[in-house]
Amino acid sequence: MENLKQKILALKKEKNAVILAHYYQQPEIQEIADYVGDSLGLSQEAEKVNSDIILFAGVHFMAETAKVLNPKKKVLLPDLNAGCSLAESCPPDIFKKFIEAHPNHIVITYVNCSAEIKALSHLVCTSSNAEKIVNSVPENIPIIFAPDKNLGNYINRKTGRKMILWDGSCVVHEAFSLDKLIELHKEHPDADIVAHPESETHILETATYIGSTAGMIDYVKQSPKNKFIIATEAGILYKMQEEVPDKILIPAPSFENNTCACSECGYMKLNTLQKVYDCLANETPEVMVPKQIAKKALTPIKRMLELSK
Ligand code: 13P
Ligand code: SF4
Repeated sequence: MENLKQKILALKKEKNAVILAHYYQQPEIQEIADYVGDSLGLSQEAEKVNSDIILFAGVHFMAETAKVLNPKKKVLLPDLNAGCSLAESCPPDIFKKFIEAHPNHIVITYVNCSAEIKALSHLVCTSSNAEKIVNSVPENIPIIFAPDKNLGNYINRKTGRKMILWDGSCVVHEAFSLDKLIELHKEHPDADIVAHPESETHILETATYIGSTAGMIDYVKQSPKNKFIIATEAGILYKMQEEVPDKILIPAPSFENNTCACSECGYMKLNTLQKVYDCLANETPEVMVPKQIAKKALTPIKRMLELSK
C-alpha cells in the first residue's frame, strides 16, 4: 500500500493535480489528500484550486460542484458509481413538477443533489450552513427544502419555519438504531452523543451536539469530555481520532450491524487507493456538467459561498 501511495504522490506532482477528499473516505485516501474536509470546506477549496486537475475523492455530487465552481479544471472521480441516496431520491423532472406545484416558494437545496437540481434552486446549503442560509430568506417567504427531509425537519425545528420538505434521506444516517443507541449510552453514561443532522429526529433528540462532519470534529476537540458516541459515517473516526488521540470515540450502532456496530457509506467506499491511482494515471473517469446546467447551478452555489464567509 505504501508503494501505491508513493506512486500516487509522484503522479499528482507530475500531472499538477490536487486531491480533495471527504472525511468518509478510507484512511489511506485521506492520507494522500491535499485537503480533507466537509462539503462546505471542499467546495471552498475546489473554487480556489489553481492546478490543472482536481481528483475528487468523494461522491459524484461533490465532484460536480467542484466542476461548476472551477469549470476550466479537469475534475476526476475514481468511481463514477459513487452516488448518494439523497441525490438519487430527487429526479429533476419530478422535482420540477414539485416546484411548479408550489409557486412563489424559494427553493433551497442541500448540496447532496445533482447539478441539475441545483440549477432549479435559488440557494444551496450544506449541513454546516443550512440554518444560516434558511435564515437569509425573509420570514414571510415560503421555502421548499430538498432533498433531505431529516435535515429539513431539523432546520424547521431550529428556525421555527414550516419549509415544505422533499421526501429524501441518507441510507447511512437513517440506519442508526435508537434502541441500540440508548443501550450503548447506558453502558457509557459519561459519553456525549454527537450526531450529523442527516440523522432522524429521535436520534438527534439524544445528541448533545448536532453538526456537519467538520463541526463534529471541532466539537469533540474543544469539549472537556473524554468520551463520545459518534452518529455519522464511520470514516470520520480516522481524522477525529487523529485530532483527539487520548479521547474515546464509539461509533453509534446501526440496525444492520450487530457485531461491528458502525455505519459505512457504500458509495463513499467505492473509491479505493488503486482506483485513485488508475484515475490519475488515465485521467478518467472525468466528471462533466453540461454548460447550460453549470451556468444555472453556479448562481445558488455562489450565493451559498457568499453567505458562508
Ligand atoms: P458534511 O461532511 O458536509 O457534513 O456532509 C456529510 C455527508 O453525508 C456528505 O455526503
Ligand atoms: Fe449520500 Fe449518505 Fe453517503 Fe453522504 S453518507 S454520500 S448523504 S448516502
